[in-house]
Amino acid sequence: MPVKKWYMGTNTKMTKTIGETTDFIRRLCVLTGHIDRSGFELFVIPSYTTLEQANRHRDPALLTLGAQNMCWEPRGQFTGEISPLMLREVGCELVMIGHSERRHVFLETDEMACRKVRCALDYGFTVLLCVGETEEHKQAQQTDSVLARQLSLDLARVKPEETGRIWVAYEPVWAIGVQGKPVAPEYAGEKLSFIRKTLKERFGPGGEDIPVFYGGSVNPDNALALAEQPDINGLFVGRSAWDADAFSSLIQKVLAHRETT
Ligand code: PGA
Repeated sequence: MPVKKWYMGTNTKMTKTIGETTDFIRRLCVLTGHIDRSGFELFVIPSYTTLEQANRHRDPALLTLGAQNMCWEPRGQFTGEISPLMLREVGCELVMIGHSERRHVFLETDEMACRKVRCALDYGFTVLLCVGETEEHKQAQQTDSVLARQLSLDLARVKPEETGRIWVAYEPVWAIGVQGKPVAPEYAGEKLSFIRKTLKERFGPGGEDIPVFYGGSVNPDNALALAEQPDINGLFVGRSAWDADAFSSLIQKVLAHRETT
């Protein structure tokens, strides 16, 4: 059976201090507390230094807490890195791997992503793997081959029985952030379907149940059209989610729309 649950989440990138993050999370829990979580999951991925307090101030039944990155080893000579043990200690349940800024600003490779995915699964986390093509890839009509390569290499060490702890976000690099260009919802839909097909080929029936999200300049104007795409299970939102009231409105708008379609 394909995934039925709907997901919405945000990566706050490097934008919120501890106090700002806890205010955000508390308010989000209050504003979305009435939404039935059996069919909906809300996740927030804030900066490392905020995680401990974020965990204390959230209701775990209402909000899943994630980290923006993680080292592929639990301990050792990895200056500047954060280990799965440290993330577990502060209540993290989810680890994002391969965000476009990690790949393109910090030059992380698919090999690193593969090791991180394996390590995150070994330490009990759910993994949110981000994939997506650059503008150049898109122009050269290489999007499908890029997505296929990222999924194949980054998930190479995932066993079929572990697919219940894998989430995938399709985030075209050219659509992300302040300079991002808006995606045509049909284009996003086509690529989400390609990702779904690739996951099914790779994992068999388990691939059908991996939640697949769209991210990259999601906003109140395009969210509904994106949410209507056939192979989408959620929206991964940056800037439009960083105000709790605005994010809660967006969530409720999308959920209400899904009920009527
Ligand atoms: P954006 O960020 O919504 O601000 O474009 C998306 C992301 O980087 O996940």
